[in-house]
Amino acid sequence: MLDKLEQIKQDALRALADIQDETSLDQWRVAHLGRSSAIMDVFKNMGALAKEERGPVGRAANQVKQALEAELTQKTVALAEAALTRSLTQDKLDVTLPGRHIPRGRLHPVTQTLREIYRVFADMGFQVYLSREVETDEFNFQYLNFPPHHPAREMQDSFYVESSQERGDNPMLMRTHTSPGQIHAMRQYAAESPENPPPVRIILPGMCYRYEQVSTRYESQFTQVEGLAVGEDITFSDLKGTLSDFARRMFGKNVRSRFRASHFPFTEPSAEMDIECFLCGGEGCGVCKHSGWLEILGCGMVHPNVLTNGGYDPERYTGFAFGMGPERITMLRHHIEDIRYFWANDMRFLEQF
Ligand code: DAH
Repeated sequence: MLDKLEQIKQDALRALADIQDETSLDQWRVAHLGRSSAIMDVFKNMGALAKEERGPVGRAANQVKQALEAELTQKTVALAEAALTRSLTQDKLDVTLPGRHIPRGRLHPVTQTLREIYRVFADMGFQVYLSREVETDEFNFQYLNFPPHHPAREMQDSFYVESSQERGDNPMLMRTHTSPGQIHAMRQYAAESPENPPPVRIILPGMCYRYEQVSTRYESQFTQVEGLAVGEDITFSDLKGTLSDFARRMFGKNVRSRFRASHFPFTEPSAEMDIECFLCGGEGCGVCKHSGWLEILGCGMVHPNVLTNGGYDPERYTGFAFGMGPERITMLRHHIEDIRYFWANDMRFLEQF
């Protein structure tokens, strides 16, 4: 029996030596290690052996099987290596050819700025709230404390989505700023618990539309990022702290900021925040018009009427809000002199970012 095992092994190895391709190797595996191979027959017929033969024969049969399996693995590797060598030496491969350019997409420069803004505010605990782009006059102006004939409405000339005949006293328009989202958000939060509206800490990014004379500085379509924090005991110090911290996280940890008094109908008091010019470090240059400061955003304490319109009792709650333009920030950062590049879709511009 042991001689027969040796014979099985030699037959198999001899057959293996001639094999040059994977198909034959697979056939070899079936013939010499498969269910009806000679070696498997030995295992199957073990019962017919005399008791004292079973041990030595079983061990020897196992050794043969393992040896054949090891040879199979080696041969598989050898065939794969041979195939590779063949393709490297025989196939025509001109390694001096220049590589083929694989076109790669990239994020729009404004998207990159937006994502940085999200990251900074996310670290400070603000959530992103998305609000609609088509608004009613009420949400875009009235609830934000713009009186009916307030001149600020003219500063934000609107695209109406209804004809002048259709327009009643609450016409639909493309939002001129992201501020109406403040009202939607507060109302949604307050609806959860009208007696005890929960605190709000959100940023509201999105596209805004104005009927502008398009120029290097004004586009009819642009993005804004609005911010809103409402709660008990929120003060102007919280506004200053949060926004100066934002400036440091966004523009550099030593960047100084300053607040100037301003006016918006929906905040009282209102301010604008400047940061030290990051191009000249405050020395004065063309970008900061030699003032050393760059205007970055508008902000203020949420007007009591706006809180009321959002379902928050101004006797109990206070809050701050702010709004900034990512295009403007991107322009300042990269020294871009014409806002129209952002929507012109000129690859020569976009590929630089
Ligand atoms: N909505 C203002 C605009 O479009 C920007 C703004 C200013 C938003 C001050 C605010 C704010 O929330 O507090 O010009």
